[in-house]
Amino acid sequence: MRYIVCITGASGVIIGFRLIQELLTRNLQVHVVITPNARKVITVELGDHYTLPSGAYYHDEEDSFAPLNSSSFLFQAAIIVPCSIKTLSSIANGFSNSLTTRIAENALRTRSTLIVVPRETPLSASALENMLSLRRDGAIIFPPSIAYYHRPTTVEDVTDFFVGKILDLLQIPNDLYRRWGMMSQTSDKQ
Ligand SMILES: Cc1cc2nc3c(=O)[nH]c(=O)nc-3n(C[C@H](O)[C@H](O)[C@H](O)COP(=O)(O)O)c2cc1C
Repeated sequence: MRYIVCITGASGVIIGFRLIQELLTRNLQVHVVITPNARKVITVELGDHYTLPSGAYYHDEEDSFAPLNSSSFLFQAAIIVPCSIKTLSSIANGFSNSLTTRIAENALRTRSTLIVVPRETPLSASALENMLSLRRDGAIIFPPSIAYYHRPTTVEDVTDFFVGKILDLLQIPNDLYRRWGMMSQTSDKQ
């Protein structure tokens, strides 16, 4: 079971890393691509000394000879998390000039699972149109929009809610957030 996680230069890079950790915990094979702009955002959001999760296979975004560039590289799902509006636009318009955009193109044309997690607000008409175009092409558009019913109190709670929902889409059992109907009506955070 191989999964590809691409991290681009949008805010919320921790969601990508948290997902990678959860996949690795389940002994799944994880291939990771981090764009140069994502590396800058990682420094801003996680600090200069953030250590990448060990156990994953890391690929260079500029490596056009990587096995992942080809649709002969089989995988269960590709998740672009977070996905910048720039990368979203490139994918929606078939402009595959990087490993991340090429992986997405391969997923679309082979009808493999592609989950795109665009992080921006508010959204322009072109961003909305690009999302609709990708949805029509088979991608799952997963805006990381917060829910309050499970009573998150920390950034970790919010992040785990998103990661749990992504794992749900991948049909990977998880207990990362409290599901509706499974919560005590009276208790606070458990
Ligand atoms: C700190 C920081 C946060 C950013 N957050 C976002 C964001 O949430 N969404 C977005 O679309 N772009 C965001 N950007 C801009 C992207 O990094 C920029 O568009 C970049 O070209 C994306 O390149 P990439 O998709 O190849 O990683 C941010 C930039 C910085 C420096």
